Amino acid sequence: MTTGEAVYGFYIPTVTLMGIGAHRQLGEQINTLGAKKPLLVTDKGITGAGLTKQIVDLIKADTGIDAVVYDDTVPNPTDKNVEAGLAVYNENGCDMIITLGGGSPHDCGKGVGIVATNGGTIHDFEGVNKSTQAMPPFIAINTTAGTASEMTRFCIITDTSRKIKMAIVDWRVTPAIAINDPLLMVGMPAFLTAATGMDALTHAVEAYVSIAATPVTDACALKAIELVAQHLRPVVANGEDIEARDKMAYAEYLAGMAFNNASLGHVHAMAASTTCPTVSATPSCSPTYPASTSSPSSTATSTSPWPWARMSRDSRNVRPPRRPSPPSRSSPRMWASPPTSPSWA
Ligand SMILES: NC(=O)c1ccc[n+]([C@@H]2O[C@H](COP(=O)([O-])OP(=O)(O)OC[C@H]3O[C@@H](n4cnc5c(N)ncnc54)[C@H](O)[C@@H]3O)[C@@H](O)[C@H]2O)c1
Ligand SMILES: [Fe+2]
Repeated sequence: MTTGEAVYGFYIPTVTLMGIGAHRQLGEQINTLGAKKPLLVTDKGITGAGLTKQIVDLIKADTGIDAVVYDDTVPNPTDKNVEAGLAVYNENGCDMIITLGGGSPHDCGKGVGIVATNGGTIHDFEGVNKSTQAMPPFIAINTTAGTASEMTRFCIITDTSRKIKMAIVDWRVTPAIAINDPLLMVGMPAFLTAATGMDALTHAVEAYVSIAATPVTDACALKAIELVAQHLRPVVANGEDIEARDKMAYAEYLAGMAFNNASLGHVHAMAASTTCPTVSATPSCSPTYPASTSSPSSTATSTSPWPWARMSRDSRNVRPPRRPSPPSRSSPRMWASPPTSPSWA
């Protein structure tokens, strides 16, 4: 039996702070990492919602440090965003990165971080484990539930020249610390809550049926599916339902644990961005490496992020999950408020 068939990898951040009020420990974590000048990578929506000021003020109050803000990240962040963020990082002598938002700011910040320490351009890191140096100290504060980018080893950056989304799969882009606080998710409007929640559900389902799944990822995926089934509809109906927000934060994180280690499948491969200004009909989310579709001989290589992928899921002889209870008839439907601008793809 080869190593690829016998050994399962499992990647997650070193520390994750979860639960109501978790973000208030940010200052303590910055001090722990010993940073003096953080770059806060976020976007205009987050700034408009007041979250950027809230975090900048919190950092100042708890550490005395003035964070430098880069908030020009666009949805489906681009190579230009990474370049601009890196320029701000260097011009201000920054020594750590904090990302605040959903998948777009996290991926932009990861791009800045990996180029800051390795040199070159973000394009050099497309593929699997191309870096040789760790990112600067990195804290990802999550505001959607969600992509789970705050805890994954993926960084998805739009190449504006080639008009594709580059998949950077590198264990060194995993944030050192992830913060998932439902208090920061309360401001998500209903459609964003629904869309990001369905993203998390899809991550869990696709990871569960993946041939790179393991008993660990199965446990994460099944619990994520259960939590989404129970809590997504209530939180779409009432965005201030903090318990449901909390449970969705767990769900998206568990789904992230699953797909970060078991890959995604055809639904993500088919997903198309309709609003990204420079990209059309390209995968909109995380990379779909061939773990779900290829034979072991093509995946069990040193360049595969899932060398333990097997020929079929059935070979692990896993029984199908118990179906979650059906929602009550009175539950509001998630599509009650149709989208006007699904900018998060
Ligand atoms: N790296 C990974 O593992 C991974 C996985 C999946 C998707 N992605 C990437 O993530 C991106 C999508 O991320 P997303 O779906 O989280 O959306 P997003 O980060 O693009 O945000 C979408 C919009 O929602 C707003 N928003 C976010 N949180 C809010 C809050 N709490 N209150 C009010 N508004 C808020 C933002 O300002 C933005 O306008 C895509 O670029 C995709 O490729 C990455
Ligand atoms: Fe996704």
